[in-house]
Amino acid sequence: MRTPFQTKLPNLGTSIFTEMSMMASQYDAINLSQGFPEFDTPDFLKSAINQAINEGKNQYCPSTGLPELLNQISQMVQRRYQAKVPDEQKVDGMNNITVTSGATEALWVAIQTLVRPADEVIIFDPAYDSYEPAVELAGGSCRHISLNAPDYKIDWSEVKETINSKTRAIVINSPHNPTGTLLSKSDITELQKIVLEHSLYLISDEVYEHMTFDGLRHESVLSYPELFKRAFVVSSFGKTFHCTGWKMGYCVAPTELTVEFRKIHQYVTFCSFTPAQHAIASMLKNHPKHIDELAGFYQKKRDVLVEALKGSRFEILPSKGTYFLLLDYTGVSELNDHDFSHWLTKEIGVAVIPLSPFYQADKLTEYHRNNKVVRLCFAKNEDTLLKAAEILCLL
Ligand SMILES: Cc1ncc(COP(=O)(O)O)c(C=O)c1O
Repeated sequence: MRTPFQTKLPNLGTSIFTEMSMMASQYDAINLSQGFPEFDTPDFLKSAINQAINEGKNQYCPSTGLPELLNQISQMVQRRYQAKVPDEQKVDGMNNITVTSGATEALWVAIQTLVRPADEVIIFDPAYDSYEPAVELAGGSCRHISLNAPDYKIDWSEVKETINSKTRAIVINSPHNPTGTLLSKSDITELQKIVLEHSLYLISDEVYEHMTFDGLRHESVLSYPELFKRAFVVSSFGKTFHCTGWKMGYCVAPTELTVEFRKIHQYVTFCSFTPAQHAIASMLKNHPKHIDELAGFYQKKRDVLVEALKGSRFEILPSKGTYFLLLDYTGVSELNDHDFSHWLTKEIGVAVIPLSPFYQADKLTEYHRNNKVVRLCFAKNEDTLLKAAEILCLL
């Protein structure tokens, strides 16, 4: 008799994003849980994708990406991150960039490219939920390092202690979901020392790259040529152009790593949605200001929410980037973050995301004992943010 079917991902259930969004719609709560914009993608982009479709640009494009889009991405990268990088080390579209179906595909392919059975990958909790399943399906395992409220800073000496002969890669994410923190120049310097000394690889998830506040700079790995030699840098047009449902992203890596990345990418999707590639290339070319103005656009939303919450009993943690804000609810409730998020959604009418699912499952009891923090997404219209804040101020 055959053995019963065995799941390859025994620890995975419904994601917290799906769970809270379903609950938000069931109880008609204001949904500040899942991280997507309430407003639409720019009109120019909508016209451009319609135009591409009407002009018959509906067939496969090159697996690596449409040349015009690769060129536009490389120009954007050079303009924003590589002013001080010598010309011969600047990225070029044909050799270093691959267009993918969302950052999710780029992360997946980068991890499959790097990780072999028994390899270990260091990730920092709270961590975005797609890294670990990808590592496990590649036969590897994650070593989790916890970051803690209120500043969620990486202790680089702990990273050094965690590295062993099996360590293959480190995954970083800045600006960081869910905490809204940024890695500083000195973080990147420490990281570079460690990566080079131990011949590790780096996956840098930079999907919120254009959303940093109060004049703070995003320290992209693309500005550090020595570190970039061992890195996959991943980004998402969904975040930048308010079109998360298009699932368009890209990966930037040195030539040798890109060759390997593309071998896998071609058998995952072959190529990503051609009309969207035409539209995004045109948007980048004709409206470069959209990107430059994105930080100010989201900073305004953050400020509206923070100001409106000032009279509440929540402690507002600093959001330096992304479109997320953390609230410490110690002054409001004794519940753990999971139960508190359920209660807030069902009884109070505001859906948020608990932070504990972003941590390693076997550390949850300890986490619940010490932390009372939830995540709010402020990629919403001002009315929505004010209405939610008004309700939260009554608690
Ligand atoms: C940190 C982080 N990485 C990757 C992704 C996935 O991006 P995409 O929708 O482009 O696949 C998200 C989406 O929420 C994210 O927050």
